[in-house]
Amino acid sequence: MPKCYKYRTGEKYLFRGIDVQRLTTAGIDWMTKTGSGKIGRVRRSHDEARANYNRISRWYDLLEGYWEEKARREGLSLLAVAEGETVLEIGFGTGHSLMALARAVGDTGKVFGIDISEGMARIAGKRLGRKHLSDRAELSVGDFLESDLPGGFFNAIFMSFVLELFDTPEILNVLTKCRRLLKEGGRLCVVSLTKEGSDTAMRRLYELGHEKMPRFLDCRPIYVARAIRDAGLETRHTSVTSIWGLPVEMVLAIKPGI
Ligand SMILES: C[S@@+](CC[C@H](N)C(=O)[O-])C[C@H]1O[C@@H](n2cnc3c(N)ncnc32)[C@H](O)[C@@H]1O
Repeated sequence: MPKCYKYRTGEKYLFRGIDVQRLTTAGIDWMTKTGSGKIGRVRRSHDEARANYNRISRWYDLLEGYWEEKARREGLSLLAVAEGETVLEIGFGTGHSLMALARAVGDTGKVFGIDISEGMARIAGKRLGRKHLSDRAELSVGDFLESDLPGGFFNAIFMSFVLELFDTPEILNVLTKCRRLLKEGGRLCVVSLTKEGSDTAMRRLYELGHEKMPRFLDCRPIYVARAIRDAGLETRHTSVTSIWGLPVEMVLAIKPGI
């Protein structure tokens, strides 16, 4: 796995040779917000993320899976996948959304999934198998940012509680890659903890938890719609809901045609 090189020199954030400060002066301000608007950084590597999700894969549904279900379902209904479509889910976890997507595409469509954890992929694969939906899905294990998926191929892309696991400068890389993978007019739906909305005590507590125990609380609130727009997608719906006092943003966006 290629290493990520990221370091801060003076006022410059460099990430894989990209001067993030230059991007921010070009209008991308959410990356360098300060004070209570500042996004926490992600210090662990992708290999550590893989090891962590492998370790918790058997317990994931008990720990978090059902807690997030309402938001996942709302996101899926925004994406409104139709029969015959080709869909990608990034970071499918234990496979709850994959099941819904596989049902929605029917026999004539296909769901592709990529997840960095083989433990998660094993559980998701079994779940699809139990419902005889394996033929409609193709799962792969790997890092989305390193993946070699075909451009202009997908009608829709879904990710829930995944974008906020990527470090701040990587968020734009993830979304730009999504734009490249989508067909013209294709849809992206992202469900994520958010910095938008009012600054609740629960969010402040959660962010403190992320800072002190980044392995245990590895998601952190980010700016979803702003990042999606900066990646060149057009937002069609944005809303903020709350899970136990934690604001969650749902965004539907499309890849504009030429
Ligand atoms: C918090 S879980 C969310 C799982 C699922 N989307 C859900 O809503 O229940 C994050 C998932 O993203 C996967 N993941 C983390 N980093 C990834 C990466 N770089 N590429 C692909 N998957 C990744 C993890 O293995 C894990 O399954």
